[in-house]
Amino acid sequence: MANQIIEKYPKNDRSILIPLLQDIQEENGYLPEDVLKEAAAHIGISMSSIYGVATFYNQFRLTPLGKNVIRVCRGTACHVKNSANILFGLETALNIKAGQTTRDKNFTLEVVSCIGACSIAPVICINDDYYGRVTVKEIDRILKKYQPVQPKPSPQKAEEVVK
Ligand code: FES
Repeated sequence: MANQIIEKYPKNDRSILIPLLQDIQEENGYLPEDVLKEAAAHIGISMSSIYGVATFYNQFRLTPLGKNVIRVCRGTACHVKNSANILFGLETALNIKAGQTTRDKNFTLEVVSCIGACSIAPVICINDDYYGRVTVKEIDRILKKYQPVQPKPSPQKAEEVVK
Protein backbone atom coordinates (compact mmCIF):
# COMPACT_ATOMS: atom_id res chain seq x y z
CA MET A 1 0.00 0.00 0.00
CA ALA A 2 2.87 2.38 0.83
CA ASN A 3 4.28 1.76 -2.63
CA GLN A 4 0.98 2.67 -4.25
CA ILE A 5 0.90 5.97 -2.40
CA ILE A 6 4.51 6.80 -3.20
CA GLU A 7 4.25 5.76 -6.85
CA LYS A 8 1.43 8.27 -7.36
CA TYR A 9 4.02 11.01 -7.07
CA PRO A 10 6.71 11.88 -9.62
CA LYS A 11 10.26 10.75 -8.87
CA ASN A 12 12.95 13.19 -7.79
CA ASP A 13 10.51 16.05 -7.19
CA ARG A 14 11.12 17.55 -3.77
CA SER A 15 8.12 19.86 -4.05
CA ILE A 16 5.75 16.94 -3.44
CA LEU A 17 7.17 16.10 -0.01
CA ILE A 18 4.41 17.61 2.15
CA PRO A 19 1.44 16.18 0.23
CA LEU A 20 3.22 12.83 0.12
CA LEU A 21 3.76 12.88 3.89
CA GLN A 22 0.10 13.83 4.36
CA ASP A 23 -0.96 10.84 2.27
CA ILE A 24 1.35 8.48 4.14
CA GLN A 25 -0.01 9.70 7.45
CA GLU A 26 -3.60 9.45 6.24
CA GLU A 27 -2.98 5.81 5.33
CA ASN A 28 -1.05 4.78 8.45
CA GLY A 29 -2.16 7.21 11.14
CA TYR A 30 1.48 8.28 11.48
CA LEU A 31 4.72 8.29 9.49
CA PRO A 32 6.36 4.85 9.77
CA GLU A 33 10.14 4.89 9.34
CA ASP A 34 10.22 2.15 6.69
CA VAL A 35 7.72 4.05 4.53
CA LEU A 36 9.69 7.28 4.98
CA LYS A 37 12.79 5.46 3.71
CA GLU A 38 10.93 4.46 0.56
CA ALA A 39 9.66 8.02 0.16
CA ALA A 40 13.17 9.44 0.60
CA ALA A 41 14.53 7.13 -2.09
CA HIS A 42 11.66 8.01 -4.43
CA ILE A 43 12.03 11.76 -4.04
CA GLY A 44 15.79 11.64 -3.88
CA ILE A 45 16.27 13.39 -0.55
CA SER A 46 17.88 12.36 2.71
CA MET A 47 16.02 10.93 5.68
CA SER A 48 17.27 13.84 7.77
CA SER A 49 15.55 16.26 5.37
CA ILE A 50 12.31 14.30 5.68
CA TYR A 51 12.58 14.26 9.48
CA GLY A 52 13.30 17.99 9.39
CA VAL A 53 9.98 18.63 7.66
CA ALA A 54 8.05 15.99 9.62
CA THR A 55 9.12 17.46 12.96
CA PHE A 56 8.66 21.09 11.88
CA TYR A 57 4.93 20.75 11.18
CA ASN A 58 2.61 19.86 14.06
CA GLN A 59 0.31 17.94 11.74
CA PHE A 60 2.82 15.10 11.36
CA ARG A 61 3.43 12.41 13.91
CA LEU A 62 6.24 9.90 13.97
CA THR A 63 4.61 7.47 16.38
CA PRO A 64 1.23 5.75 16.19
CA LEU A 65 -1.71 7.17 18.12
CA GLY A 66 -2.98 5.39 21.19
CA LYS A 67 -6.37 3.69 21.23
CA ASN A 68 -7.89 6.77 22.92
CA VAL A 69 -6.81 10.27 21.97
CA ILE A 70 -7.18 12.92 24.66
CA ARG A 71 -7.18 16.51 23.43
CA VAL A 72 -6.72 19.19 26.05
CA CYS A 73 -7.84 22.61 24.92
CA ARG A 74 -5.33 25.34 25.70
CA GLY A 75 -7.22 28.11 23.88
CA THR A 76 -7.75 31.43 25.63
CA ALA A 77 -11.08 30.66 27.32
CA CYS A 78 -9.76 27.36 28.63
CA HIS A 79 -6.47 28.93 29.64
CA VAL A 80 -8.34 31.47 31.78
CA LYS A 81 -10.17 28.57 33.44
CA ASN A 82 -6.93 26.83 34.40
CA SER A 83 -6.56 24.32 31.59
CA ALA A 84 -2.85 24.22 32.47
CA ASN A 85 -3.81 22.41 35.68
CA ILE A 86 -5.97 19.96 33.75
CA LEU A 87 -3.11 19.23 31.39
CA PHE A 88 -0.70 18.76 34.28
CA GLY A 89 -3.23 16.48 36.01
CA LEU A 90 -3.56 14.33 32.90
CA GLU A 91 0.20 14.19 32.38
CA THR A 92 0.60 13.09 35.99
CA ALA A 93 -2.21 10.52 35.86
CA LEU A 94 -0.95 9.00 32.62
CA ASN A 95 2.76 9.46 33.35
CA ILE A 96 3.37 10.98 29.92
CA LYS A 97 3.83 14.47 28.51
CA ALA A 98 1.65 16.16 25.92
CA GLY A 99 2.37 14.67 22.50
CA GLN A 100 3.18 11.25 23.93
CA THR A 101 1.41 7.90 24.07
CA THR A 102 1.22 5.66 27.13
CA ARG A 103 3.32 2.48 27.12
CA ASP A 104 0.22 0.31 26.84
CA LYS A 105 -0.84 2.40 23.82
CA ASN A 106 -4.20 3.08 25.45
CA PHE A 107 -3.90 6.88 25.56
CA THR A 108 -2.32 9.62 23.49
CA LEU A 109 -2.31 13.08 25.03
CA GLU A 110 -2.44 16.11 22.77
CA VAL A 111 -2.78 19.85 23.26
CA VAL A 112 -5.04 21.76 20.90
CA SER A 113 -6.20 25.33 20.59
CA CYS A 114 -9.89 26.23 20.78
CA ILE A 115 -12.15 23.26 20.04
CA GLY A 116 -15.27 25.40 19.84
CA ALA A 117 -16.79 24.74 23.24
CA CYS A 118 -15.55 27.85 25.09
CA SER A 119 -18.79 28.26 27.06
CA ILE A 120 -17.98 25.08 29.00
CA ALA A 121 -14.27 25.77 29.49
CA PRO A 122 -12.00 24.18 30.46
CA VAL A 123 -12.67 21.44 27.94
CA ILE A 124 -11.05 18.14 27.12
CA CYS A 125 -12.09 15.80 24.37
CA ILE A 126 -11.48 12.05 24.41
CA ASN A 127 -12.08 10.54 21.01
CA ASP A 128 -15.52 12.04 20.19
CA ASP A 129 -16.59 12.69 23.80
CA TYR A 130 -16.42 16.24 25.15
CA TYR A 131 -15.98 17.01 28.85
CA GLY A 132 -16.67 20.56 29.94
CA ARG A 133 -15.94 22.47 33.13
CA VAL A 134 -13.46 19.73 33.94
CA THR A 135 -11.74 19.78 37.31
CA VAL A 136 -8.53 18.05 38.28
CA LYS A 137 -10.50 15.92 40.76
CA GLU A 138 -12.55 14.42 37.91
CA ILE A 139 -9.60 13.24 35.86
CA ASP A 140 -9.27 9.74 37.35
CA ARG A 141 -13.00 9.11 37.03
CA ILE A 142 -13.01 10.23 33.40
CA LEU A 143 -9.95 8.17 32.48
CA LYS A 144 -11.45 5.06 34.07
CA LYS A 145 -14.14 5.02 31.37
CA TYR A 146 -11.45 4.41 28.77
CA GLN A 147 -9.36 1.85 30.62
CA PRO A 148 -9.42 -1.62 29.09
CA VAL A 149 -11.80 -3.93 30.93
CA GLN A 150 -9.85 -6.37 33.06
CA PRO A 151 -10.97 -9.99 32.57
CA LYS A 152 -12.74 -11.41 35.62
CA PRO A 153 -10.94 -14.38 37.19
CA SER A 154 -12.54 -17.69 36.36
CA PRO A 155 -14.24 -19.45 39.30
CA GLN A 156 -11.40 -21.97 39.44
CA LYS A 157 -8.77 -19.25 39.63
CA ALA A 158 -10.83 -17.40 42.23
CA GLU A 159 -10.75 -20.55 44.37
CA GLU A 160 -7.00 -20.74 43.99
CA VAL A 161 -6.73 -17.17 45.24
CA VAL A 162 -8.82 -18.06 48.33
CA LYS A 163 -6.56 -21.02 49.22
S1 FES B 1 -10.76 27.98 24.20
FE1 FES B 1 -11.13 25.97 24.82
S2 FES B 1 -12.94 25.45 23.75
FE2 FES B 1 -12.52 27.47 23.10
